[in-house]
Amino acid sequence: MSVADRWVVTGGAGYVGGHVVAALHAAGVDVVVLDDLSTGRADRLPRGVRLVRGRVGDREVLDDVLPGAAGVVHLAALTSAPDSVRSPLAYYRANVTDVVVLLGAMAEHDVPRLLASSSAAV
Ligand SMILES: NC(=O)c1ccc[n+]([C@@H]2O[C@H](COP(=O)([O-])OP(=O)(O)OC[C@H]3O[C@@H](n4cnc5c(N)ncnc54)[C@H](O)[C@@H]3O)[C@@H](O)[C@H]2O)c1
Repeated sequence: MSVADRWVVTGGAGYVGGHVVAALHAAGVDVVVLDDLSTGRADRLPRGVRLVRGRVGDREVLDDVLPGAAGVVHLAALTSAPDSVRSPLAYYRANVTDVVVLLGAMAEHDVPRLLASSSAAV
């Protein structure tokens, strides 16, 4: 990563994302956060970081944030194993179909790098 780059951090208002955004911002990297704030908090973000509130699976939002980005750090997810049993469709959408939409949009906008965490709940 170079300070000349702009990176998109999905889930940047979450626990892991908040730390990643703070570290990138402190290093001088231009960061845009895409987060629907379903479990995240905007007050985790350092002053000056742009927050776009929306879903990872929303093409209109992706078409706004992806052009020109050097890469995506993908940390948007639903992470509770018990909740995933209660709400399987919400988890399937957030953790599977939204990611397929993200990958398709990245390919179309020539965003070459994806950094994805593993799951906390494999
Ligand atoms: N916390 C850990 O110890 C840990 C360890 C290893 C991997 N991970 C993985 O890192 C990722 C983030 O975990 P976390 O603990 O920070 O979770 P978190 O719930 O704190 O953060 C997830 C963020 O994603 C956002 N989000 C959820 N679905 C979204 C969607 N469809 N579109 C846009 N934003 C959405 C939420 O609002 C939240 O801000 C997960 O994939 C998790 O499995 C976490």
